Amino acid sequence: MKIPARLGTPLSPSATKVMLLGSGELGKEVIIALQRLGVEVIAVDRYPNAPGHQVAHRAHVIDMTDGAALAALIEQEQPDLVVPEIEAIATLTLVELEQAGRATVIPTARAAWLTMNREGIRRLAAEQLGLATSPYRFADSLAELKTAAAEIGFPCIIKPVMSSSGKGQSKVDGPDQVEAAWKYAASGSRVDSGRVIVEGFVDFDYEITQLTVRALDADGTPATYFCEPIGHVQVKGDYVESWQPHPMPPVALERAREIARKVTDDLGGLGVFGVELFVKGDMVWFSEVSPRPHDTGMVTMASQVQSEFELHAKAILGLPVNVGLASPAASAVIYGQHDARAIAFEGVADALRVEGADIRLFGKPESFARRRMGVALATADNIETARSRAREAAARVKPVTTEK
Ligand SMILES: Nc1ncnc2c1ncn2[C@@H]1O[C@H](COP(=O)(O)OP(=O)(O)OP(=O)(O)O)[C@@H](O)[C@H]1O
Ligand SMILES: [Mg+2]
Repeated sequence: MKIPARLGTPLSPSATKVMLLGSGELGKEVIIALQRLGVEVIAVDRYPNAPGHQVAHRAHVIDMTDGAALAALIEQEQPDLVVPEIEAIATLTLVELEQAGRATVIPTARAAWLTMNREGIRRLAAEQLGLATSPYRFADSLAELKTAAAEIGFPCIIKPVMSSSGKGQSKVDGPDQVEAAWKYAASGSRVDSGRVIVEGFVDFDYEITQLTVRALDADGTPATYFCEPIGHVQVKGDYVESWQPHPMPPVALERAREIARKVTDDLGGLGVFGVELFVKGDMVWFSEVSPRPHDTGMVTMASQVQSEFELHAKAILGLPVNVGLASPAASAVIYGQHDARAIAFEGVADALRVEGADIRLFGKPESFARRRMGVALATADNIETARSRAREAAARVKPVTTEK
């Protein structure tokens, strides 16, 4: 673990340089937090003018799944830290570069590699760390999937091993739906490996993201800090609303944090982790973990003293963090609603007139009907009011097309 010993002046020989691999809305906020500390930021994405490109010192467009292109860019830029913001990266290249001492990857190259594939993180969590998870099987063909689904039982969830944001994922209620789920998984997989995971359906009361920060304490050793739990609603595997703090019985909260500690201790390094957990009564299941800020954690821009992005920026630089809550708050996603380039947003003033509300628009050059283009945030003295304010503010923003 190499930590910059001091912070330099950007665009000079003393610069502290950080490279973001993935420059979407989450990366954009991490970049802004780094900019505030005078860090020189290099933003990388697969398309031009990505949100983070627009606020960085330099922008690059490469296919980050191309290991040779990725290694060449790291060699060219010589960043102090390489910060993956997305899963779809040539993570084995990062592992090699880290082993050769040519890059420091946040939190570690191994963590990025393990979590990009559902099989890696699931086997680690369930088989090595002994954490409670949904029952699961893997399958490489329709025939194998039929057997696996029958063993797991119905309902179950079928997901490509390499996918995110619910892509290619379906809930299956009986054997007659397995073939459709297999085909759907193939369409949503990032890499055409054809491998899927079948998970038993967990009939949870609610799900949370336990943001967990590994940061240096006063002695210079990594310590674990827990944010308040974040509750969220998912539609088709994509988050639409989140809020913090989500009330939890003390036993469940303790178990959630025990799981989060075990998995983040194992993954190691420094930075923010989003540990996704299912909760029913006092029972808690590990679902998955992002070794980086989490989309449901956008609420922390309103709810915490330091947002998850600021926490990540500080933690990776070896600086102390404050995970304190400032106010109950909620977030509600603003979707593009149109398949078009260069859309515009009407009603932003109306949205900002909602009490306690604020808005972020990500500046994505192209909109899709279900693409996340912005987020409404709102504080209140309780999460119910915060949720309704955030929803109301989001609803007042009207995406419109501007090009024929
Ligand atoms: N085994 C399960 N039982 C019940 N619900 C599940 C199960 N697996 C997933 N879900 C639901 O689907 C959502 C998305 O699942 P998951 O997090 O595995 O997918 P993802 O594609 O990685 O999504 P994201 O990238 O947004 O985190 C979960 O947050 C949960 O609501
Ligand atoms: Mg998830």
